[in-house]
Amino acid sequence: MRQKYKPWAEPYLIANKERMITSPSAVDNYSNYHQHILEIGMGKGDFLLRMAKVYEETYFVGVELNKTCGAIAMKKIIEENIPNVYFYIGNASNLEEVLPSKMKFDAIYLNFPDPWPKIRHHKRRLTSKRFLDIYKKILKPGGRVILKTDHLELFDDSVMTFEQEGFKILALERNYLISSGPMSNYEEKYMKIGKKMYKVEVSYD
Ligand SMILES: C[S@@+](CC[C@H](N)C(=O)[O-])C[C@H]1O[C@@H](n2cnc3c(N)ncnc32)[C@H](O)[C@@H]1O
Repeated sequence: MRQKYKPWAEPYLIANKERMITSPSAVDNYSNYHQHILEIGMGKGDFLLRMAKVYEETYFVGVELNKTCGAIAMKKIIEENIPNVYFYIGNASNLEEVLPSKMKFDAIYLNFPDPWPKIRHHKRRLTSKRFLDIYKKILKPGGRVILKTDHLELFDDSVMTFEQEGFKILALERNYLISSGPMSNYEEKYMKIGKKMYKVEVSYD
């Protein structure tokens, strides 16, 4: 469901700019951490919040196009005093321009990305070739991409694109019923109603 516009969102993001990645020089503390994880399309941020609580030694970056969702996520992180989460509020297609060139990730999570079902919109999918080309550049060698979705056609198309683009399939599950770790908002919602979900984990050398 589309997030309703909240007028406090943009001022909140501006007021907390120390949490925002706006340019490669905006953050410098990432090198204090050995593990780096990126979530693209984090929505309201529950997955990031839950992961950051479990993995306190990992540096997390949440990416979100929608400013209201981004501010809701940031508010949760700040209110719970979670120190290891930073945000890029913008289109993931610009990641290479805003991230420091030395910032590389052990894993990229794509939790229930928008399926963009119309063929003419497929290039907007976060698993289309143009996005995979970006992931190849920002992953550490052997870094992983984890996709979860309830959309079978997106899933099959993504698996095919990962393989075509030289990613190695590490694990693939159709209709998984138990989540192996912290869940996103969508995953939690779908799990409760028993919706079919699919996940694939790939790596790139
Ligand atoms: C269906 S929601 C899933 C939210 C969350 N990951 C979850 O599982 O609960 C997809 C989110 O991806 C964001 N998104 C879509 N395309 C994006 C892009 N190119 N860059 C950044 N965020 C994007 C949308 O704004 C939306 O909040």
